[in-house]
Amino acid sequence: MKISVIGAGNVGSTTSLLLAQQRLGEIWSLDIVEGMPEGKALDMAEAGPVARFESRMHGTGNFEDLVGSDIVVITAGLARKPGMSRMDLLTKNADIVGTAARHCARLAPKSIIVVVTNPLDVMTYVAWKESGFPKERVVGMAGVLDSTRFRYFVAAELNVSVEDTHAMVLGGHGDSMVPLPRYTTVAGIPITQLLPPDAVKRLVDRTRTGGTEIVNLLKTGSAYFAPAASVAVMVESIVFDKKRLLPASTYLDGQFGLKEVFVGVPIILGREGVERIVEIELTDEEKAALAKSAADVKSGIDDWMKATQGATAR
Ligand code: NAI
Ligand code: 2OP
Repeated sequence: MKISVIGAGNVGSTTSLLLAQQRLGEIWSLDIVEGMPEGKALDMAEAGPVARFESRMHGTGNFEDLVGSDIVVITAGLARKPGMSRMDLLTKNADIVGTAARHCARLAPKSIIVVVTNPLDVMTYVAWKESGFPKERVVGMAGVLDSTRFRYFVAAELNVSVEDTHAMVLGGHGDSMVPLPRYTTVAGIPITQLLPPDAVKRLVDRTRTGGTEIVNLLKTGSAYFAPAASVAVMVESIVFDKKRLLPASTYLDGQFGLKEVFVGVPIILGREGVERIVEIELTDEEKAALAKSAADVKSGIDDWMKATQGATAR
């Protein structure tokens, strides 16, 4: 497997290292900063003998090196800074992601694109549109991250192992995301049976603002350890055709009553990409929250379409 990671900043380089440590394939890191991707790839490769991985690591500044990639992870872009909304990043990052997606379509036409750049769901739409790929082969990473945060908060609150916690967070990767306590469990027991409503609400709110909490602590840049680990889970499911059921941003064509938008829902992720969308039952309140979140993403897509003048939904 050839796995290319576009953007060798915090998320990109941490992702590359995790993919190498998990021996998922030959890893190419690409960035526009001269020498940086080559330097990071060499540094990571030199860790191999002591960290016990054999993955071949390469760094490059040349998009032509994407040729023949099986999986392309797009992390290139600007990271959020304190006080900056995800939507502020939209126009600049859409240019970067659009360019990367077009190179990907030309050089790696059979690849699966995993988008990480924010605003995530809009950038996944941009990558889909600009690559011309079928919807199954463009997927956005956010739900796995939002869910792992929720899992961690639940485990810490109840003083139980993270291993036994599972969580489901739907919607766009923004303040209107939809953590689902009914589908968040400890060894199969919904947290609604284990915690009082005010504690559940506190953990849901903390999950929704999980990215901002880290941004405010770091002061410069945003989270990257948990995001990179979340990308690695998705790449592993594709490489080994594990068909994991994961929340991820995918194109909806009527599922959950939503259309023509990328938004986080449960999917089955395998060697063919998004193999299935799992339409879990939602209460009216949950459905309304998901629709509101999807509407927020749609307005970002509209902003991008207006900014690119004349672009039309396909
Ligand atoms: P970073 O600033 O550390 O790295 C971004 C890298 O992209 C930089 O090295 C930069 O040189 C590179 N870059 C910029 N333009 C490029 C281009 N045209 N071609 C190739 N490389 C280019 O930022 P970080 O922390 O790695 O975050 C990357 C992106 O991922 C941001 O948009 C951030 O908001 C997003 N993110 C998304 C998450 C999610 O859940 N979807 C979680 C964490 C971050
Ligand atoms: C996060 O949730 C910045 O979107 C990124 O950490």
